[in-house]
Amino acid sequence: MEAVGFIPASQQEVITDKTVTWSAPSNIALVKYWGKYDPQIPANPSLSFTLNNCKTKTSVALTHKNLGSDKHAQEFSFEFSFEGAPKPDFHPKIASFFTRVVDYLPFLKAYHIIIHSENTFPHSSGIASSASAMAALSLCLLELSNEFSSSGPNNFSEDFYAKASFLARLGSGSAARSIRGPLMQWGKTAVFESSQDLIAVPFNQELAPIFKNFQDTILLVDKGEKVVSSTVGHGLMKNHPFAEARFQQAHDQLAVLTESLVSGNMEKFIEVVESEALTLHAMMLTSDPYFILMKPGTLSIIEKIWAFRKLTLIPVCFTLDAGANVHLLYPEMHKDELLQFIENELVAYCQNGQYICDQVGSGSISHTEAP
Ligand code: PMV
Repeated sequence: MEAVGFIPASQQEVITDKTVTWSAPSNIALVKYWGKYDPQIPANPSLSFTLNNCKTKTSVALTHKNLGSDKHAQEFSFEFSFEGAPKPDFHPKIASFFTRVVDYLPFLKAYHIIIHSENTFPHSSGIASSASAMAALSLCLLELSNEFSSSGPNNFSEDFYAKASFLARLGSGSAARSIRGPLMQWGKTAVFESSQDLIAVPFNQELAPIFKNFQDTILLVDKGEKVVSSTVGHGLMKNHPFAEARFQQAHDQLAVLTESLVSGNMEKFIEVVESEALTLHAMMLTSDPYFILMKPGTLSIIEKIWAFRKLTLIPVCFTLDAGANVHLLYPEMHKDELLQFIENELVAYCQNGQYICDQVGSGSISHTEAP
């Protein structure tokens, strides 16, 4: 697949009397994407669980723009509100996303675009919302483009979702994996013949039953802004002394993880998932300049999880994003014991005792109302 394949043949006609709405979930990577090339091409393949409860819901409407004689005025014209209030701080991110996708959505310059967005998870929880936000926005813009409108809100095709993933990737790499579920793979690798750098694709094998409704409880250790953004972190992989070994490791771990997801081998699953989390942070610790996103509470929680697992033999493990929060991953059948463990031993390390209960989900949903 080539990027030019997503460029429409002619200037698209779009629907102007309609508001489209999509919700898209967040996702948690099991094999981590860390390092990229222009334009948002991952340096290594990744694999993620799509979440179910942590979502962004976005509505987009178009109105005619006052173009005067210039039918394709150079500047984008849009307004953005988040949870009911205008959010000018988000404008630069949206404008740069529009710049990256305008070749694929040429109507963007011809209309005034009104965007409303909200998250189901608490704002400033330290959970990155760029994946769910960029996925939801991409789906809305794509639905508005005429090519697909004729298929109707409940009849979105494989091509529609492929293009949505392509667009979302240009907003935020990991957003490519937030379009569908329950498990998404992104980045070319010999492990999957269907793998691609330009879009994420659903994991194409049958998951072992133990992963059905797999739980992710997100322990909010630190809800503040990250000291180093993902963009900067990805950039630091360029001259990283361990980059090549790390990228190769991701391919290797992906192969092992794939086997364990199919066979239900929890020991291997845990080994790879925890190694990936720690390797991600090891890359940060060894970047130039180095940085630390974990907090003391992150390490205390990891120690508690290891002790709990040793004592109970319950197959629970952790993963980390680019931040201090800990994702606790475990089979649904152990939910009660785990929630008890969290209440007894882990909430003490969570900011204001907060955590979010989520589980694996099936991806984005259209909420566009029929005309
Ligand atoms: O999508 P970005 O640029 O925010 O990068 C996300 C990177 C990690 O969350 C750390 C790993 C991943 O694969 O999601």
